[in-house]
Amino acid sequence: MKSSRRLGAVKPSATFAMAAEATALRKQGRDVVDLSVGEPDFDTPEHIKAAAREALARGQTKYTPIGGTDELKDAITTKLRRDNGLEYGRAEVMASCGGKHALYTAFQALFDEGDEVVLPAPYWVSYPEMLVLAGAVPRVVTTTAARGFRMSAEELDGAIGPRTVAVILNSPSNPTGAAYSSDELAALGRVALRRKLLVVTDDIYERLTAHPVAHIGTLVPELRPNLVVINSVSKSYAMTGWRIGYTAAPAELIRAMTTLQGQSTTNPTSIAQAAAAVALSGPQESVAAMAREFTERLQLMVAGLGAMPDVRLAPPQGAFYVFPDVSAYFGRRGPDGPIATATDLSMCLLRHAGVASVPGEGFGAPAHIRISYAASRALLAEGLTRIRDALAALH
Ligand SMILES: Cc1ncc(COP(=O)(O)O)c(C=O)c1O
Repeated sequence: MKSSRRLGAVKPSATFAMAAEATALRKQGRDVVDLSVGEPDFDTPEHIKAAAREALARGQTKYTPIGGTDELKDAITTKLRRDNGLEYGRAEVMASCGGKHALYTAFQALFDEGDEVVLPAPYWVSYPEMLVLAGAVPRVVTTTAARGFRMSAEELDGAIGPRTVAVILNSPSNPTGAAYSSDELAALGRVALRRKLLVVTDDIYERLTAHPVAHIGTLVPELRPNLVVINSVSKSYAMTGWRIGYTAAPAELIRAMTTLQGQSTTNPTSIAQAAAAVALSGPQESVAAMAREFTERLQLMVAGLGAMPDVRLAPPQGAFYVFPDVSAYFGRRGPDGPIATATDLSMCLLRHAGVASVPGEGFGAPAHIRISYAASRALLAEGLTRIRDALAALH
């Protein structure tokens, strides 16, 4: 059957493709260290699961308001005030089925055909595809490892053309783990303000860093009418499967997004909403504990990769990814033939070393591979040993 032209221009998610290949190999009985994953390896904290059980027992099993229950909206506004110093009311927030769905809905509500959106590369694989689905055109600004994969205010300013309407920020970043300092964020915010750009800030990894910084919305409060804050409980609370994300923005945009959501998914799952409300407004110790563990693992990864010849790594500040430049290995040969690209190298590591990573092409960075450290330290150590040995065997 023929599918729409609109979808013809959209690529399937590269991260899920590699995970699917790893699963297929596992099914054949192969031992695979899966470092391709984009989700915490921790379980959802018990008090959050208990809230879901209670919601179920109470019979909270019906439709809710499209943008979420008042309880969840209040938890979102509480969280934004507590963690980010941002003041939003119920009419200015909404819940969606994950941060991805929040972004998708926001892009559909914000952009018209041909609107340009500044997208720093390396970027999360889904941004360009979601922009294209909204009719927008990504205006990619390639950042470099030498500058820590951070776009400067001058680079942002230089990328703005007559049709540019917005910029997407994601700090800490998937895939690089790079995070902006407060000064850098403030400088970017001032450019956006002066050039009348919308700022879409994807804060999904904000808690997973050893050095949290102030929010761009508090650093440059004048941005508020043009600020769209996207977040999710997926990564901070180990709740990827629950599918709750949220948006904070001017009421006008929230109304438009609610219209679209009302004609597509309706509300996110009622039980998951109850759990997310407790995650956001309840005890926060588990978040800090998880962030500490990720920081320890990051050190392990930086040390392990740093000891491998010809692997170049700009040390990241957060999230749970490292993004080494492995292009020095392009042109060498592996058991299946020449390694010419990051995809070849990732595939070689998967098939011959039993380590799943994600090649950089989908992130707009073809010299790199993404390695997730959302796995136990023992698995990370094993994965690093396998990568080291497999790279050494290339000739
Ligand atoms: C940068 C970024 N934004 C958004 C998301 C979406 O997460 P979710 O839909 O699980 O909330 C992800 C997931 O990997 C991500 O890496």
